[in-house]
Amino acid sequence: MGRKVRAKATATVSNLNCGFDILGLAIREPYDFVELEMTDSGVVEIAGIKGCDSLSHDPEKNVVGVVLNAMIRKSGTKAGLRAFIEKGITPGSGIGSSAASSAAAAFAANDLMGRIFSPKELVTFAMEGEQLASGTAHADNVAPALLGGITLIRSYEPLDIVQVNVPPELFCVVIHPDMEIKTSTARAILDKHITLTTAVKQWGNVGGLIAGLFSEDYDLIGRSLTDHVAEPKRSALIPGFHELKKTAIQHGALGAGISGSGPAVFALCRGELSAKTVISGMRAFMETLGIKYNAYLSPVNREGATIC
Ligand code: HSE
Repeated sequence: MGRKVRAKATATVSNLNCGFDILGLAIREPYDFVELEMTDSGVVEIAGIKGCDSLSHDPEKNVVGVVLNAMIRKSGTKAGLRAFIEKGITPGSGIGSSAASSAAAAFAANDLMGRIFSPKELVTFAMEGEQLASGTAHADNVAPALLGGITLIRSYEPLDIVQVNVPPELFCVVIHPDMEIKTSTARAILDKHITLTTAVKQWGNVGGLIAGLFSEDYDLIGRSLTDHVAEPKRSALIPGFHELKKTAIQHGALGAGISGSGPAVFALCRGELSAKTVISGMRAFMETLGIKYNAYLSPVNREGATIC
């Protein structure tokens, strides 16, 4: 009892335009920390939250609490866990804020419990956090947050996660406008059905993107970064989205789109130099909008969640 461990999980860009709920990649920053202490109380406590005032300390209403309770139940341990959360990722940003906390909690708890769970089981636990946060247990943020790199959820039932090749020159730029979009809201506005014509276009792009990532064909990656399903609906929620996306492409991005459920907008680029040009162009456009924002430039983070 009393042993402490601290884990870190980074922001993630999910969907990657064509891969709604099935594709995601990890970037290097920002990130969340979760520190856990083993107690003999038999229950989960959220003892502290730094960096965000709006999150609940009630373990039933906090993703960290939900993930830890699920792990305690499954492991059968009589021990309790006391959690301290340090948020570096703003909730409702579109870069996997709830996923990072869920992933860091699952990773830290597994370490305290003697690594009894497999990486895939940790993804399953972290998905319970997503269920609480967004009403759907999607894995496209928690999988890369835990495992690093680029992940494909080939199937949810049963869960089948494929680690996708990361082309060495791939860089990601993220612009996060200072506004909140709840994932549940951004999901509620989507059509529940799509036409066969739309589905054909979408799965062509998913196949193209995966092929492009494995063959390191940057042009194919760029051609495939197209979304016929979520972007047409969600873009209306993000001020200046179309111009921002156009700016990224005009400055040399392979492609750009909504990160997760937004409002963050991402661009994929070939090489760091190109990413720097793209981020400058996107920053300059954001200045004209007069909306506060954060900007990140990162290679794909292959590391995943870590103990720190
Ligand atoms: N795939 C999810 C969505 C990601 O687009 O709703 C949420 O961050």
